[in-house]
This record gives sequence, C-alpha cells and structure tokens, in this order.
Amino acid sequence: MYGVHEGLSIIRHDGKLMNHEIGQMICCPYLTASMSGMDSVEQAKKAAGIAACDFVSDGMDVGLGTGSTVRYTVIELGRRMSEEGLKIRGVPTSIETEELATKLGIPLISFDEVNRLSVTIDGADEFDSNFHLIKGGGGALTREKIVAQISNAMVVVTDPRKDVGVLGEFPLPVEVVQFGWEVTVRHLQEICPGEVSMRGGDDPFVTDNGNFIIDCHFGPSIIEPVKLESKIQSIAGVVEVGLFTHIADAVIIGSLEGIEVRIKTDGRLE
Ligand code: 5RP
Repeated sequence: MYGVHEGLSIIRHDGKLMNHEIGQMICCPYLTASMSGMDSVEQAKKAAGIAACDFVSDGMDVGLGTGSTVRYTVIELGRRMSEEGLKIRGVPTSIETEELATKLGIPLISFDEVNRLSVTIDGADEFDSNFHLIKGGGGALTREKIVAQISNAMVVVTDPRKDVGVLGEFPLPVEVVQFGWEVTVRHLQEICPGEVSMRGGDDPFVTDNGNFIIDCHFGPSIIEPVKLESKIQSIAGVVEVGLFTHIADAVIIGSLEGIEVRIKTDGRLE
C-alpha cells in the first residue's frame, strides 16, 4: 500500500527488515548536497521529514502535523504536488501549519468535509519502544491528537535524540483552560514529582485554542504512560495532555548515517 523509496531502511518493531538485511543502515538518498551548510540535527530532521512523504500517495487526505521536523514533510508534499502532480488534501494541526500549507498550495479541508484521514504525519518530543509519545513542544497537542485520532495511521518524524527508554525527560505539556488554571496546576502538582510550570512564565504562551500550556517535569519516570494519560485527562480544566499512547504506527528516525523506519508490529501499517 505504501511506496518505499529506494534505499529506505524499513525496520519493523519486531526487528525484521521489510526490504533490507537486519542491522543494515541505508545510506540515505535524502541527505544531499543541498543540505550542506545545515547542522547535523537539521539535516536529520529534513531527511526524516522528506522520507515520510513516501507514506503519501494520490488521493489521500493527510493530517499535517506541527513543528520543525514535519515542516520539511509539508514543504516536500507541496513540492511533489506542484512538480510531480501529486494530488492530496490536508488537515492542518495548527495555524502555523495551515499558513505554510496554504502558501504551498496544498488544498485544505475541514472536518465537515471528511470523516477519516488516510494518514497523519507529525513530529514528537520523545518516543519509546512501544511507540508511545510525548508531544506538545510546540503547543499544538490538542489539535494534533484530534487529527491523529481520525487518521487511519500515524507516522512520526524524528531524530535520534528523541528515542528514549522511559518517557518524561522532556517536560510533559498539558493544555489547560485559562479559567481556574491555578487550581488545575495544584492538581498536576499532586501527580508530578518535579516542577510544574506555566509555559512562558509571566507572559504565558497561549495556544491556538486560547488556552495555557503547563509543563510538567516528570523526569524519565513515566513507566505507565497509558494510565498517566487518562489520570491527567480526568482533571477538570485539562483540555488535553501531550501523552500519545497506542496511536503511532511508525517512527522515522533521520540521522547523518541514514534513515531508520520502525513499523509497529500489529500496527495499522503492517
Ligand atoms: C508540536 C509538537 C511537535 O511535533 C514536537 O514538539 C516536535 O517538534 P520538532 O519537530 O520541532 O522537534 O508536538 O506541538
């Protein structure tokens, strides 16, 4: 169903390679001379972002994530549309992505025009070996989860810094309504062993939905992300939490050595 670019290493979650020998890291066709001058992290992000476009084909409705990695995906999709005739429609997960997609000529559709999306491509701040994620570094977690939940698959674009054993080193973002936010913070403090802070401090960051983001410093201690996700969701005032569990089907990890694509066993891309 999904086209795979020549040279792309597809490593399934069970360790089997779909089109290459186990352990082989493929020289990445996306790391080109045009990337010289970029630092290595940026090159890795660009390689992952572009590689993810191989999960997109004609006629698909695509969830367009938010962040500096998936930005490369959106730009490449726009290029394939204008230069190669690719035909897709998109649903953006933030105003920032909406503006970028509009500039690139990607047609956008609203939720009353579509029930399901073929695939969502998005970034992450951390991922673990169970394909659970922390997201929301850019503050778009609620829209990102809404879009991911109506998608037939979710592909995550990352770099090796985000591959963790236990989630939580990256502060867990929680979107909360402005009303009574001080109370919501107190509830979060009862759950979180570390600092719980308002993003932006005295000049709070306000999301596209008009809410605040509270960053919860759990440290690498989130051993039961599924339980923590529902526990935080049950607090009044919480709009959404940046734990994305049982939703990602593939993680693409770009690096200077090449691209690794991990496909979840029993996921929706098997
Ligand atoms: C935005 C997100 C981003 O996808 C996440 O923060 C990763 O961003 P980047 O690719 O810039 O590191 O969840 O809310």
